[in-house]
Amino acid sequence: MDAPEVAKLHGFFGKSRDRTYDKDAMIDNETMMARFDEVFGGAPVLIARAPGRINLIGEHTDYNGGLVLPAAINLEIKMAARARKSGPIRLFSENYGEEYSFYPVDELSLPAAKGWHSFFMAVADQFARRGAAVPPMDVFINGDVPLSAGLSSSAAYEVCAAVLLSHVCGTNIGMKQLALLAQAAEHSPFVGVRCGIMDQFASALGCKDHALLVDCHTLECEAVPFSSKNAAIVIVNSMKQRELRASEYNQRRRECEDGLKKICAISGHQFPTVRHIPMSVFSRYTGKLSENERKRLRHNLTENQRVLDFVAALRADDWRGCGNLLCQSHESLRDDYDVSCAELDRIVEIARNCDGVYGCRMTGAGFGGCAVALVTPGAVDDFSRGLSAEYEKEFTARPGIYVSTPADGANAAAPSKGDDE
Ligand code: GLA
Repeated sequence: MDAPEVAKLHGFFGKSRDRTYDKDAMIDNETMMARFDEVFGGAPVLIARAPGRINLIGEHTDYNGGLVLPAAINLEIKMAARARKSGPIRLFSENYGEEYSFYPVDELSLPAAKGWHSFFMAVADQFARRGAAVPPMDVFINGDVPLSAGLSSSAAYEVCAAVLLSHVCGTNIGMKQLALLAQAAEHSPFVGVRCGIMDQFASALGCKDHALLVDCHTLECEAVPFSSKNAAIVIVNSMKQRELRASEYNQRRRECEDGLKKICAISGHQFPTVRHIPMSVFSRYTGKLSENERKRLRHNLTENQRVLDFVAALRADDWRGCGNLLCQSHESLRDDYDVSCAELDRIVEIARNCDGVYGCRMTGAGFGGCAVALVTPGAVDDFSRGLSAEYEKEFTARPGIYVSTPADGANAAAPSKGDDE
């Protein structure tokens, strides 16, 4: 996202930043319907929702065929829609207070400037390319996933649009395919980030009270029970917005691809992804790699093992074990993957010294955004207060703190007054 967009979003971001999440605070369907009426007149026939995600562990491994363990969270994007007989697709973003129109044609051209509407257009374009007839319609969009904070607001937006359009176009595409379509939208020139599949899978396939173990090579998923009675997922927003995200992200990806190519060439083995390089082979040829290639691959190989160890610890109710793995993951992202920053390092350091904290690490792409901590439920309030006070001493911003339980993935339904949110 470019700078003016980020700046505009700050208002929304600021509004929700102090909130410790609770269910009542979500955008309810009644409000969506009332606002739809004010903006477009009349009632929507469909409301789609898609959650953001927190990644517990397995960072920067998805585009390398590795393992990830995200969970959908209680912050989401919602879209209320009604098809029309003629005219353009009219979008209204509540968060930006802006309208945008475009005509649904077989091959959409890029908008004059990228913006919040690009994500919807990217998804509509993917449907059109697959032969779906995208009709003219009115779409009211609202969301409470903080933007540029590492909680996958983009994926939530794309998945929400995909679920909505799938219903409106009458296509019969399963959730996994919709997530892949949303990823293709993000890769397309409308957005231009070569992301992995983790965010879209978490948003589409998330499961209440479970984390989602994804094998990003085979695309197999398994829901792993996560009981928030034992440990709360506390999300700490550094309020540092990610800068240079797309270019740095794409560069890490390239370094991994280069490292993989070199190892294949030297060893004579065709490893399909970084994840398939055995540690012994990596160690044997490490001297042939550039320093960055060596560090990026080492992070990936050790991180995949940490995901497996984390799942085993989760299943054994070993929260200390889980916490230690979070801390190790952070160190690897900081030292080997070079995607942390002073703010996130400090949050992790403060958290590690707070009572009741099992562990903490940066989450998402990095370069700013959020950290995730696992905290004894009874210690959450003290932790939030203590951490905010310490953090504010050094950085001008007050951190945003959200507590979330693992939520269900995206869906769409006809709205009715008094919907239970
Ligand atoms: C972003 C991408 C994901 C993943 C993470 C890092 O969120 O969209 O695909 O690569 O960064 O783990």
